[in-house]
Amino acid sequence: MNNLHLAKNTILIVDDNPTNLGVIFNVLDEAGLEVLVAQDGESALQKVEYVTPDLILLDIMMPGIDGFETCSRLKSNPSTSDIPVIFMTALGNTEQKVKGLSLGAVDYITKPFQKEEVLARIKVQLDLRNLTQSLANKNQLLQEKIAEKTALENTLQLLNQELEKRVEERTFELQQTQLQLIQSEKMSTLGQLVAGVAHEINNPVSFIQGNLTHAESYIQDLLSVLQLYQENFPSPGKDILTLLEEVELEYVIEDLPKLISSMKVGVERIRQISVSLRTFSRADSTTKVAANIHEGIDSALLILKHRLKATEKRPQIEVVKNYGNLPLVPCYLGQLNQVFINIIANAIDALEEACVQRTAEELKENPCQIAIVTEISKNQNQAIIRIKDNGLGMTEEVQSKVFDYLFTTKVAEKGTGLGLSISYQIVVEKHGGRLSCFSESGVGTEFTIEIPLV
Ligand SMILES: Nc1ncnc2c1ncn2[C@@H]1O[C@H](COP(=O)(O)OP(=O)(O)OP(=O)(O)O)[C@@H](O)[C@H]1O
Ligand SMILES: [Mg+2]
Repeated sequence: MNNLHLAKNTILIVDDNPTNLGVIFNVLDEAGLEVLVAQDGESALQKVEYVTPDLILLDIMMPGIDGFETCSRLKSNPSTSDIPVIFMTALGNTEQKVKGLSLGAVDYITKPFQKEEVLARIKVQLDLRNLTQSLANKNQLLQEKIAEKTALENTLQLLNQELEKRVEERTFELQQTQLQLIQSEKMSTLGQLVAGVAHEINNPVSFIQGNLTHAESYIQDLLSVLQLYQENFPSPGKDILTLLEEVELEYVIEDLPKLISSMKVGVERIRQISVSLRTFSRADSTTKVAANIHEGIDSALLILKHRLKATEKRPQIEVVKNYGNLPLVPCYLGQLNQVFINIIANAIDALEEACVQRTAEELKENPCQIAIVTEISKNQNQAIIRIKDNGLGMTEEVQSKVFDYLFTTKVAEKGTGLGLSISYQIVVEKHGGRLSCFSESGVGTEFTIEIPLV
């Protein structure tokens, strides 16, 4: 028996018989164990309140409370219930052994004691107890470590979330600034160009228009003079008569006024285009200005007119307008025009793609069309503009991303993926309105712009 193995453990012997007590004390003491003694149950229970032994050797028959009662009380007290109890019984008393074990004892030793057996049984129980305790300690330590780790992980997770949120906020701010820059750059370059062209057209058109009125009255005068000549000199001579016939004077007299008025119509049209271009490029002031939305849509259509025309690959794209009775809308019209251009240009792109995929018969039945409807919302609070095409529509996945910065399904030279994100910013952030998209794959797409009227 390895005494060192048992050393430092404390054993409490409870026995009223001094001889027994002496024998067992010696055995344990020799084995290097710390030994405490009590001569009855009561004093044993008192002792364990001050010193917690690692094991109790308990006699059964004692004056006062017997061993069974002592064991029951030890087991029912949480601070002593863990201490292993070994009963000391008389040889062959099975009943006592069974009762002791059922009360929570871990083993028994029989009198008269066999030294080796006693030590062996004690050692098994002490080893078991030490093992259980060290396991419990390790478990405790492990749980503390896990708790520490969880706390650390939670802190880390919180920090991470905070960081992600900040990065997201910064990225969003950056994107917004970039968008604003791109948008104002785009607007100012395009706007300047268009304003310049409109201005250049405006001057010559003004003097053609002004002079046409004079030309008309001079021609009228000349014709009157000619008529008077003809009346006063009915026979002007052969040369004049031949020339009159050659130039078909009668026809010229009849056609010239028509020619002049059609020139006037043409010039008026150029003037309107120039006005439209100026409307489009109108430099927006810092405050909103009440504007005619229909003029804005028309100027956008005018700028995109060349793209609506028939090409070798497809028939013309029809534009069906159904303008409601809109009041003047407080807005930054120059920027809204940009929105109209982006959405109509996208519709044209979608229709062009559809034309490639649809047969001539299908196109005849369902011609490429952009429908533009304007109306006031039911509660009279919003101006609503709907721009609808019967192109190829979008899948749900594309639809969920259309307003995303830099999202495009087009080849690099055709799309940058900025059009709708800029439009979204203009409608939602600049105007406090709403921009929504309804699309059905293979059928078409509708964009709805809602601008508050107040
Ligand atoms: N009317 C439409 N029909 C079908 N798809 C559309 C329509 N309008 C937009 N889309 C889809 O939304 C995407 C994003 O449109 P957006 O206008 O933002 O960018 P883009 O047209 O690709 O490029 P750009 O910056 O030149 O406008 C398009 O690439 C297209 O896939
Ligand atoms: Mg676009």
